[in-house]
Amino acid sequence: ARPLIIDCDPGVDDAIALLLALAHPTELNILGITTVAGNVPLDYTSQNALKICALANADIPVYAGCPRPILRELSTAADIHGATGLQGTALPEPAQPLMVQHAVAFLIDTLQQATEPITLATLGPLTNIAVALIQAPQIADKIDTIIAMGGAITHGNMTPAAEFNIYVDPHAAQVVFASGIPIKLITLDTTHQVLTTAKHLEAFRHLNTPVGTAAANLLAHYGAPDKERYGMDGAPLHDPCVIAYLLKPELFTFKPTYTTIETTSPANLGRTIIDWWNRTGKTPNVDVAASVHTPGIYDLLTESLATL
Ligand code: BDR
Ligand code: CA
Repeated sequence: ARPLIIDCDPGVDDAIALLLALAHPTELNILGITTVAGNVPLDYTSQNALKICALANADIPVYAGCPRPILRELSTAADIHGATGLQGTALPEPAQPLMVQHAVAFLIDTLQQATEPITLATLGPLTNIAVALIQAPQIADKIDTIIAMGGAITHGNMTPAAEFNIYVDPHAAQVVFASGIPIKLITLDTTHQVLTTAKHLEAFRHLNTPVGTAAANLLAHYGAPDKERYGMDGAPLHDPCVIAYLLKPELFTFKPTYTTIETTSPANLGRTIIDWWNRTGKTPNVDVAASVHTPGIYDLLTESLATL
C-alpha cells in the first residue's frame, strides 16, 4: 500500500475525501491525518477528522496542526460548510483522542524516519506543510509527491483571482510551490466539473448505511452559495478529486507548468500564476490537472462508500 499522510480542514468535501481514502486500506497506507485551520477553526477541523474516522470505524491517528496562517489572519468558509464544518447529519463522537504530538512534528518525524518516500494529500491551506519544510527542509527528499487541491487556472472562488485554500495562506503555498517537491495540483477548473447532483445524492442515500446516509446529508447541506453564485447543477466536490487521483490516476490528465503564488498584490493575493503556455520558458514545477472523467469519480465514490 502507498504510504500517505492526509492534511485537511474538514469541511464537507474534506470529510468525503477522508471517507474515500479510508475505504481503501489495501491501496493506501494512511500513516496519519493532520488538520489545519481553514474552512473552520482548528478545533472543529480536528474534531471533525476524528468523527469521520469513528464513522468509518478507522483507527488512524489524527494530529492537530497550525491554528492560523503564517502571516495573515484566518479566513474561514463557514458559509459553504456551516459553522462547525460538518452540519446536517448526526456523526458519532470521536472513538479516540487527538494525538498529543503537533502535526508539524509528526510530519517531520515521520518523513525523517521514512524508509520509502511518502505521498502527501493536501486538502486545505498549506500552512502545516510549509512550516514543516521551513523547520526541516531535508524532509523534502522524503516526499514522493504532494497532490494538492487548490488554485485556479481561470477564476477564483474567494476573490476574482484566488481559490480558497491558496488565498487563506498564500505565503505557505509559495513555500511549498518553490520547494522543488513534485506537485500535482487539482484546481477549481477541474473540481467545478465534479458536481454532486440530486442523482448522486440519491445513490449515496440508497446505500442505506450510516456512511451513505451521512454523506448524503452532509452533501445536501453543502455548497448552496456555490450553486447559486456559479449557476451550477450541484456543489463541486473539490477534495475527493485528490484521493480519486491516487486510486485511479487514469481519471485525470495533467499538464506540466511553471507555477508561482502571488503574495504581494492586494487584488491578486493568493492567485496561482500558472504558466499554461510556458511563456516564461522556466522549468515546470507543478503538474496542473487538465481534464477529469466525472462519471468515473462518482462511480468510484459510490462503490467505495458502499464498503464502509
Ligand atoms: C477548497 O476550499 C474549501 O472550502 C474546500 O474544502 C476545498 O478544499 C475549494 O476551494
Ligand atoms: Ca478542504
